[in-house]
Amino acid sequence: MKVLFLGGAGMIGSAAAAEAVRRGIEVTVVTRGEPRRPLAPGVRRLAADVRDTTALREALGGEEFDAVVNWVGFTPDDVRGHPELFTGATGQYVFISTCSVFGRPVPNLPITESSPRRQPVFGYARDKVACEVLLEDRYRSADFPLTIVRPFHTYDRTVIPSLAGWTAIDRMRRGRPVVVHGDGTSLWSLTHSSDFARAFVPLLGNGHALGESVNVLSGDILTWDQIHLTLAAAAGVRSPVLRHRSSESIAEEVPGWGEVLEHDFRHSMLFDTSKLRALVPGFAPEVSFSEGAREVLAHYDADPALHVVNAALDSAMDRLLGEA
Ligand SMILES: NC(=O)c1ccc[n+]([C@@H]2O[C@H](COP(=O)([O-])OP(=O)(O)OC[C@H]3O[C@@H](n4cnc5c(N)ncnc54)[C@H](OP(=O)(O)O)[C@@H]3O)[C@@H](O)[C@H]2O)c1
Repeated sequence: MKVLFLGGAGMIGSAAAAEAVRRGIEVTVVTRGEPRRPLAPGVRRLAADVRDTTALREALGGEEFDAVVNWVGFTPDDVRGHPELFTGATGQYVFISTCSVFGRPVPNLPITESSPRRQPVFGYARDKVACEVLLEDRYRSADFPLTIVRPFHTYDRTVIPSLAGWTAIDRMRRGRPVVVHGDGTSLWSLTHSSDFARAFVPLLGNGHALGESVNVLSGDILTWDQIHLTLAAAAGVRSPVLRHRSSESIAEEVPGWGEVLEHDFRHSMLFDTSKLRALVPGFAPEVSFSEGAREVLAHYDADPALHVVNAALDSAMDRLLGEA
């Protein structure tokens, strides 16, 4: 099988490319510049800006693929030209969307692929909904072979999966309290990029996935306190101190977090992954968050240049604790 990844050299795309090569798939990745992450051995690279349909058409030179995956569609303008370019030239066009498209608060838990998609305010999610709707229209009205794939919060060793990032780790190691939104009990899920890749690659060239949308995530259930406590354990902090403040209070002190807390992180996100498991029989996540967190900390501890504390955030946490 031959697949084309549009912009697939990032955190999730590179894990998927490595998994696809491991399964004997020929992978071509289109990037606009020299990729920051090395491409997996065996991956071919083409250079083009994937949002520029004319440049992309030229770079592809009429070559056809069994599946095309668009990793970097964020607004309708990014994908508008793709139905015309790829209808007839690929057996499947996979749009990488996000589970952030599901309206919050979610009216019925658990979330499934048919949960309502709605986001009038939060730009990232609103624009992904608009991309999905545009592409679905082409699927319904023409022969555009669409599959929508929605990752949820996905990480690898390079990403500390909490809003405060290294600042939270640094505070824990200094014995300072870390502020967690709400009561720290809202539910979340984290997926290691290698587990995403194992679930995702079997969807390529899978006729049962045509016309479908599939939420691709591990299905692990974690509270935000558990996420912080697991990161603390991986950082070697035995007695971390977590303090809870409402999302509204945090947004007042850390303005950049207002939108993401209000429309995303504060809500409990509990998923039913049975559609993924039906399409990819035997899929089971292999990386627990404890293991993933140890991998993240090992990566950060090996490179002091990554130990970047956000001083404004550090002070904001002190103010939230009444200690500034
Ligand atoms: N990570 C998550 O938790 C998560 C959750 C839900 C959904 N998603 C979705 O997953 C997708 C991939 O996420 P990611 O975290 O892997 O992204 P990422 O690490 O930011 O990687 C994006 C890659 O695409 C390249 N790229 C960007 N614009 C391009 C363009 N116009 N032409 C060619 N290459 C381009 C980037 O290269 P440059 O160096 O040139 O920028 C980079 O290699 C996104 O659509 C995102 O919305 C991610």
